[in-house]
Amino acid sequence: MNLNFVTRGESTVPDPYAASAPYIDPLIAGFWHGTAPALTAELKSLSTLSGPVADLGAGSGRGVRAVASALPGVSVLAVEPSPAMRTALLARLVDDPVLRTTVTVIAADAQTYDFPRSPRAVLAMNMLGHLAPEQRRRLWAKIAWCLEPGGALLVNNQRPHTPVAVPRAAGGTFRVGEQDYEGWIQAEPSGAERLTWRMTYRTLHEGRCVSETTADYEWWTVTDDELRAEWAEHHLTSRTAGEEKTAFHVVSRSGGPVS
Ligand SMILES: C[S@@+](CC[C@H](N)C(=O)[O-])C[C@H]1O[C@@H](n2cnc3c(N)ncnc32)[C@H](O)[C@@H]1O
Repeated sequence: MNLNFVTRGESTVPDPYAASAPYIDPLIAGFWHGTAPALTAELKSLSTLSGPVADLGAGSGRGVRAVASALPGVSVLAVEPSPAMRTALLARLVDDPVLRTTVTVIAADAQTYDFPRSPRAVLAMNMLGHLAPEQRRRLWAKIAWCLEPGGALLVNNQRPHTPVAVPRAAGGTFRVGEQDYEGWIQAEPSGAERLTWRMTYRTLHEGRCVSETTADYEWWTVTDDELRAEWAEHHLTSRTAGEEKTAFHVVSRSGGPVS
């Protein structure tokens, strides 16, 4: 079969999240359950500000939904480069009368996204390792420049923070109908500051594996101290919030001149 696609305003490069997209939303639910109380508290503390919230790498929209419930009525910009992940995101939004009016989906990555002038918050959850060091630094510069005074970047730094092997481990299970779904994660060092994550997704019917798919992701590691030093270059300061496994950094302007 010969398929022709005509697209405008869309990347035509292969989608790295195509293989993972069917499974990520249910498998990441546990993370969001754990982080929700602290994240909600941080977002609520920004309720007197006026700008929108940008969610970088919004995925299937669990972060967007958390923002909308903490800050009712606030405009949310869901920035998501993967067409497959946007399928899950739009499906989450379209049946919700509130989300479909307050959330705007933007097909862009963090590097090319044209930030609004004064977001009250920028969310970057479970996506930092997709950015190379120079991309990360450029992102901090943009955020330092545009963040509304008093606003915050909420970003987590997934472990490991250095390139070490992560033995294969269960990354969650869920059941739908008569089938069970499993996620498995492992990683191998692939460079001075890099890992390759291997995600494996298995579908089981009556205990028998009926399909298995894997996806590899290059991931840049960085320590929290290195992040703090990078933020300091842009007059950004940080503190940590949340429980250990789902902790995140709350980064804000320290009040000095913006570089
Ligand atoms: C593990 S998922 C996390 C999704 C969501 N933030 C969450 O925590 O539920 C990582 C997401 O980052 C997106 N992503 C990958 N590279 C990106 C980039 N350079 N800029 C923005 N998002 C990116 C992927 O498409 C994917 O949706």
